[in-house]
This record gives sequence, structure tokens and C-alpha cells, in this order.
Amino acid sequence: MAKVVIFSGAGISAESGLSTFRDSDGLWEKYRIEEICTHGCLNWNRENTLTFYDARREQLSSVTPNAAHYAIAKLQEQYPSDIALITQNVDDLFERAGCKDVLHLHGFLPRLRCEVCGKTHLIGYTKQERDFTCKSCHGSLRPDIVFFGEAAPMYEHLYEAMEECQFLVIIGSSGNVIAMDHFALHVKVSILNNLEKSEAINERVYTKVIYKKATEAVDEIVLDVERFLQL
Ligand code: APR
Ligand code: ZN
Repeated sequence: MAKVVIFSGAGISAESGLSTFRDSDGLWEKYRIEEICTHGCLNWNRENTLTFYDARREQLSSVTPNAAHYAIAKLQEQYPSDIALITQNVDDLFERAGCKDVLHLHGFLPRLRCEVCGKTHLIGYTKQERDFTCKSCHGSLRPDIVFFGEAAPMYEHLYEAMEECQFLVIIGSSGNVIAMDHFALHVKVSILNNLEKSEAINERVYTKVIYKKATEAVDEIVLDVERFLQL
């Protein structure tokens, strides 16, 4: 298991042009979570929900990884068995920057999931064809995204990774959905990098706090991780 966990949220993709959720111009300022990202919305608000994810999926084709994604990809390439990448993001920017084995806790935009058998289907940045059904069981398909109130099976792998983690890096997450503070209390070194304070985070539990854009903070973070791994 990896000594270093790099845990990220929407903030790491902000400089690539993808909206975050809770910043001033965030997605949850424009859309209601209850309507397009909550358990059951596919039953009563299906078309609007599919359209919302179609638009976010198509937007991926027009954005590119930023320097933070690339710096982390390079760090993981240097220390492949020591770095675990765990993200709440559903974009593919880490993968496109060259990262491997990225753990997506809340799903993955380029993928659909069968509502009957769970089989996943990669559709890239295209719209979900409404008559496209599961290749295995012909069941109906949905975005492979974890909505509020739904099971998030990947969290188990987060908890496993944190049992071994000695160095925790948080980049671009407000802490409103996954509280990482208590993990930060149990590692040797922890770095928090956000653009600004978050009411959901107790910055005092972190070894180092950097309120800067991820692309401006990432070199310092990489240096700290390299020094730790070379001890
Ligand atoms: N560099 C670093 N941090 C940034 C940047 C940036 N350029 N821009 C914004 N941030 C920080 C903000 O300061 C904020 O703390 O990113 C964080 C974004 O917080 P949220 O919008 O709440 O996103 P996130 O924490 O990823 O949300 C978690 O909530 O709605 C659900 O499933 C959704 O995965 C998402 C989860
Ligand atoms: Zn199926």
C-alpha cells in the first residue's frame, strides 16, 4: 500500500476550466442537487438529469489537464508504489495527464452504468443515446456517477488506503462531503491546498496549509513528498 495519498476535489480541475461545486460560480449555484444529483432523480427527472451529465461529459472534450495534474503524474511515475491517487472528481484529467490507477470515489463521467446488472460502458465525451441499452442484459443505462443518498462503494478503498498512509495531501476539496480532517490527525505529515478557507475544514490539524491555486502550490507539494520519500 502507498505511503502517500493525494486526495483531490473539484479545485484541482478548476484551472482546466471545470466548475467546482461550492465556489461562488459553482455548479450548485446554478443547479439544484435534488433535481440532478440525488437518489431517485432518474425516476422523476430523468431527461434533465441525463442532459446535465451529457453537457458535463461533452465539456471534457474541450478542456485539458493543468500543471497540477501533470506534476502529480510525474511524481507518481517516479514513485509508482508509494503514491495513491484518490479523487472525488469524475473528470478524466488525471488519466489524460498520464496518471495510473486513479481511484474515483464518486464515479466517472465518460462511463455509463447499467441500472439492472451494473455493467459499465465507456462512451467517452459523447451524449448518452437514450435508446442505448446494456450490452449484457439490455437494461437501461445511467451516468456512472454517485448521487447523494446512493451507495459509494469506492469509499472502502479510501479507508483502506488511509490505514497505510503516512503523508496525506488534500488538493482542491472543501471537505463538505468527505471530511479528511480526522485522517490528517493520524498521519505523519499532512498538506492542505485550497484556494481559501473552508468552514468544513479545521486547518489547524494540517502540518502545512497552502491557500493558493493548485498549479502554484503543486511544486512545493511535490518537493515535500519527494523529501519525505527520500528519508
Ligand atoms: N486550486 C486549488 N483549490 C481550489 C481552486 C484552485 N484553482 N479553485 C477552487 N479550489 C478549492 C476551493 O477553495 C474549495 O475548497 O476547491 C474546493 C472546491 O470545493 P467544492 O466545490 O465543494 O468541491 P469538492 O470538495 O470536490 O466537492 C466534493 O461534492 O457535490 C459533491 O460529488 C460532488 O465530488 C463532489 C463533492
Ligand atoms: Zn445490464
